[in-house]
Amino acid sequence: MLKRNVTVVAALAAAYLFSPAAFAKAEIPADAKAMENPVEADDDVLKAAKKLYKKKCKKCHGSKGNGKGPGAKDMDPMPPDWTGGIDRTDGELFWITMHGSEGTEMKPWMAGKAKKGKELTDEQVWGLVHYIRSLVQ
Ligand code: HEC
Repeated sequence: MLKRNVTVVAALAAAYLFSPAAFAKAEIPADAKAMENPVEADDDVLKAAKKLYKKKCKKCHGSKGNGKGPGAKDMDPMPPDWTGGIDRTDGELFWITMHGSEGTEMKPWMAGKAKKGKELTDEQVWGLVHYIRSLVQ
């Protein structure tokens, strides 16, 4: 019985390592990771980003950013819980928002990849990065 559980755990770990989520994590280019947020987080930027987040991100990421939005039920992988801290650089948050996370429900928002009419600008996404950071409690 115990042996069997060990096998199951090992299989799950292997499945995670080769899952699209883990793969996407490794795939973000180093220069993208190192990008710094060029937009200043003033009140107007945060206000606009909050509005955008509510409209486009909240249904999956949740209004508090805990990853439990109504649209994320039964998702695999689930959106991460940002409330306890974010283990990502600003550049990574920007890059993933723009490019999406392949093989998951996190779709790209950049022009050329997003659905027509749904694209977000660099400035909007940098604003969202500030807003996401503000969700850490
Ligand atoms: C349809 C559901 C859905 C919507 C809408 C959505 N996301 Fe996501 N998002 C996800 C899922 C699922 C993941 C986890 C992907 C993974 O594990 O690879 C994710 C992951 C992310 C990540 C990576 C987080 C991390 O810490 O690893 C960022 C950044 C992100 N989303 C930003 C956004 C922003 C900004 C919006 C709105 C413009 C948005 N998402 C809209 C489902 C969604």
